Amino acid sequence: MPDQLTVIVLAAGGGTRMKSKTMKVLHPVAGRSMVGHVLAAVQQVQPRRIVAVVGHQRDQVGPHIQELVPDALLAVQEEQYGTGHAVRVAMDAVAEAGETAEGTVLVAYGDTPLLQAESLQRFAEEHEAAQRAVSILSGVVAEPFGYGRVVRNREGEVEGIVEEKDATEEQRAIREINSGILAFDAAFLVDALPRLSNDNAKGEYYLTDTVHLARAAGLHVGAHEIDDVLQTEGVNDRAQLARLGAAMNERIVDRWMREGVTVMDPATTWVDADVVLAQDVTLLPGVQLLGATVVAEDAVIGPDTTLKDCEIGVGARVTRTHGELAVIGVGATVGPFAYLRPGTTLGADGKIGTFVETKNAQLGDGAKVPHLSYVGDAEVGEGANIGAGTIFANYDGVAKHRTVVGRHARTGANNTFVAPVQIGDGAGTAGGSVVRRDVPPGALAVSGGPQRNLEGWALSKRAGTPQADAAQAALDAVEESD
Ligand code: UD1
Ligand code: CA
Repeated sequence: MPDQLTVIVLAAGGGTRMKSKTMKVLHPVAGRSMVGHVLAAVQQVQPRRIVAVVGHQRDQVGPHIQELVPDALLAVQEEQYGTGHAVRVAMDAVAEAGETAEGTVLVAYGDTPLLQAESLQRFAEEHEAAQRAVSILSGVVAEPFGYGRVVRNREGEVEGIVEEKDATEEQRAIREINSGILAFDAAFLVDALPRLSNDNAKGEYYLTDTVHLARAAGLHVGAHEIDDVLQTEGVNDRAQLARLGAAMNERIVDRWMREGVTVMDPATTWVDADVVLAQDVTLLPGVQLLGATVVAEDAVIGPDTTLKDCEIGVGARVTRTHGELAVIGVGATVGPFAYLRPGTTLGADGKIGTFVETKNAQLGDGAKVPHLSYVGDAEVGEGANIGAGTIFANYDGVAKHRTVVGRHARTGANNTFVAPVQIGDGAGTAGGSVVRRDVPPGALAVSGGPQRNLEGWALSKRAGTPQADAAQAALDAVEESD
C-alpha cells in the first residue's frame, strides 16, 4: 500500500489568530514544531511521496520542513485561495516533478500536533478497502462551530460537507464534523480539482466540494469516524496551543509510566516528545525534561528540576537543578540548587552540590564540588575535592582561560583559582588561598601572609561602640579571675 500513497500536508495559511511573528506551524509543542509532529506521523506511514504546501512566511517554513524531511516536495501557494486550491498546487508540483499520481492521496494539515500514524494508516486502509473516490476522517464533537459538517441522507450515506458559513440552521446542528483529513483516489482528485468553484460564502476553492463531485459522478464516498478527536484538532490561537500542549504532555507522561517510569505528579511533570527515559526512573513533582534529554535506569530527578539536552547516568540523583547540555555520570549527585551550563560533565559517583554553577567543566569520577562554587572552563581530576566557596576565575576581562585540578587534589575553602593555572595531582591549597601560580603535584599552596593579631584594636579604634564594650567586658572578666 505505501508505494501507492502520497501525503499532502497543508501549511500555507497565515495563522493570524496566533498574533505571532513566528509562523503558526512552527510553534513548538513538547519541544517539536507542530508541523514536525505531523511530519513525524506521516513519515511513519511510509508514503511514496510527502508534499508540503507552503505560502505565508515560506522562508521560515520551507527550510524547516526540508530539514526534517529532506525528500519532501515543497509546493508554493503564493496566495491562499482555499484548501482546494492548495491541494491543486500540490498535485501540480507532483506532476512537475514528473510523477504520475496514482493510488491514494491523503490530505492533512500542519497544525494538528496530536495526530498519530496509526490513525492515518487505518484511515487510508479503510478508504482503499471501500474503493471510495473520497473518504472523510470525521469526528463527533460537542462544539461543532467553525467546522465543515458531514451531511448524510436518510440512509446515513454521506452526501457532502457543508462549511459553517454556507450551512443552513439545520445543518449547523450536525455534530459530525470534517476533521480536515481526507483521502482520495488520485485519478479522481486530479480530475476533480480543476472543476471546483469558489462560488460560496468565503469565496474560496473548498477541497470539501470534491465530495459532491464524486457523488454526482456516482462514485463511492464515505466517512470514517475517529474516536480520539483531539488527534485532528488544529491550533488556531495561543489558548488552543496551551490546551493541546497539555494534552500531548499527558499522553507522553502516560506512555512513560506504562514503560515503567514512576511519575509522582503527572500534572506538574513535563516531558518533551524526544526525551528518552529508562525503566525505574523516578520523576518527582515539578520536573521538566526537554529536548533530547536521556535519563538512565534508577535515576531520580526532581523535585523542581529542568533539564534540556542532558544525559543522566544510571542511579544518578538530580535535585532542584537547572541544566542544559550536561552529562551526569552513573551514581553521581547534583544539587539541590545547582546550575549546570553547557559543556558540564560529571564522572561516576561525582558530586556537584548546593549552589554550585558549572560551565564547560569536566569533572572526573568521584570528583566533588560540594558547596557554593563557580567552576568554569575547568578540568577537575578523578577523586579531587574542591573546598566550599571556590571560584574558578576563568575570565580576565578579555579572554577565557582554563584551570586544571589534578587527581585526588584537595583544595581549601574559599579559594580563588586565577586561570590559566594548574593544581597538580595530589596537591592541596590552604583555606582562603588565591592561586595564581601552578601548584606542583603533592605540594600545599598557601597564599596571603601569616595571621597577625593587633591587640586592643577594638578598644582604640571602636571606642564607645557595643563591639568595644563587649571586648572590655571580656578583658575585665579575665583580669578578675587572675
Ligand atoms: C477546513 C475545512 C473544514 C474542516 C476544517 C477542519 C475546507 C473548505 N474546510 O476549514 O471542512 O472542518 O478545516 O479544521 O477545506 N490552507 C492552505 N492554503 C489555503 C487554505 C488553507 O494551505 O489556501 C491550510 C491552512 O493553513 C490550514 C488548513 O489548510 O492548515 C485549513 O485551512 P482553514 O482555512 O483553516 O480551513 P477551515 O476554514 O478551518
Ligand atoms: Ca482551521
